[in-house]
Amino acid sequence: MKRVGLLTSGGDCQALNAAMRGVVKSIVNASDQVEIYGFLEGYKGLIYGNYKMLQSSDFSGILTKGGTILGSSRTPFKLMREPDENGLDKVEAMKHNYYKLNLDCLVILGGNGTHKTANLLRTEGLNVVTLPKTIDNDLWGTDMTFGFQSAVNIATDAIDCIHTTAASHGRVFIVEVMGHKVGWLTLNAGIAGGADIILIPEIPYDIKKVVKAIETRHKRGSRFTILAVAEGAISKADAALSKKELKKKQEKNIYPSVSYQVAAEIQERSGLDVRVTVPGHTQRGGSPCPYDRVFASRLGSEAGKLIMKGEYGFMVGYKNREIVKVPLEDVAGKLKYVSPDATIIKEAKMLGISFGD
Ligand code: F6P
Repeated sequence: MKRVGLLTSGGDCQALNAAMRGVVKSIVNASDQVEIYGFLEGYKGLIYGNYKMLQSSDFSGILTKGGTILGSSRTPFKLMREPDENGLDKVEAMKHNYYKLNLDCLVILGGNGTHKTANLLRTEGLNVVTLPKTIDNDLWGTDMTFGFQSAVNIATDAIDCIHTTAASHGRVFIVEVMGHKVGWLTLNAGIAGGADIILIPEIPYDIKKVVKAIETRHKRGSRFTILAVAEGAISKADAALSKKELKKKQEKNIYPSVSYQVAAEIQERSGLDVRVTVPGHTQRGGSPCPYDRVFASRLGSEAGKLIMKGEYGFMVGYKNREIVKVPLEDVAGKLKYVSPDATIIKEAKMLGISFGD
C-alpha cells in the first residue's frame, strides 16, 4: 500500500490540477494499493491536519481546470520555525500529521518559497517529491515551470489588445507584467506581443534611454509605443542603492507600482500621452494552455514513477528537453534569473527592442 499526501502551496497558477492528475493517474495505473490524502490550502493543511481522502475519480475532468482543487495559501518559509499564535511548532505539527497518517511520501507542488519548506521537511526525514509550478519561471534546476506558458499567452493577449488602441490614439502604453523579481514572463510576452521597449529586473533601465527610444520611434514615423514592464523592473539609480537605502526610498514612493512611475517620468520628459494597463492576476487565471497541460501531465507522471520506485528528495524538472530529477537541496533557496548576456536578449535587441540600458 502506498499512502501519498498531496498539497499545492504558494500563489496558484494554471495546470496545478493537470499535474496532480498526472501524479495520481500514473500511480493508480501502476498499483491498485494506493491511498491519496489531499491537504487543503497548502502547508496550512499539513500543519493543522486539514485533509480529505481522495479517489482517482476526483482527478477526472480536471485537466483543463485552472486553480487548484486543493486550494492554496502562502505560508512563508521564514515563519515556519516560528510558533503560531497558539504556540504550535509548525514543523513538528507537519511531521506529526505525516506520521499519524502513516504516509509514504508527500507530493508538493510549488514555487520558490514552497521548495525551501519542502527541502526543510526532507532534512527532517520526510519523503518528499516536488513539482515546479509558477508563472514566474524562476525556479532553479528546471528550464521551465508549468503555468509559465499559460501566463505568457495571457500577457501576450493583453499586449495584443493594447496594440490596436495604442495605434488608434497614438499613445505610449505600458503593460505591466507579473514575474516577481525576474523578467522571464515580461521578456517572452514582450517579444511575442511585439513590444518596442522591455524593462526587466535583470537589466536596470535608464529613463533617459527609455525616452530616447520612444522619441526615436516617433521621429521615424511611429505614432505609438508599447512598453512591457516587469513588476520588478528597477532603474539603474535604484539598483545602485544598498537594500537599506532602497527600502527607505521606497517608503516615500507615491506610485502604486513601477509602471506608474515610469509612465509619469516619460510623460514629464517627453510630454507624450502615457497610459498604464495592469493585467495582474488574470495572468495566473483560467485554463492551462495546451503546452502546460502536456508539460504538467508529463511531470506528474514522472513524479508517479519516482514514488512507485521509492525515490524521494527530488524535484521533477525539465533540462535540455528532458524530464529530469533534481535534488531538492540544489533547488531550495535559489532563483533562476534571465542573464543580461543571454542570446534571447541579443536577438531581441537585434529586432530593435530597447531594454532601456
Ligand atoms: O509568484 C507568482 C506571482 O503571481 C508573482 O508573479 C507575483 O509577484 C505574486 O505571485 C503575486 O502574489 P499574490 O498573489 O500574493 O498577490
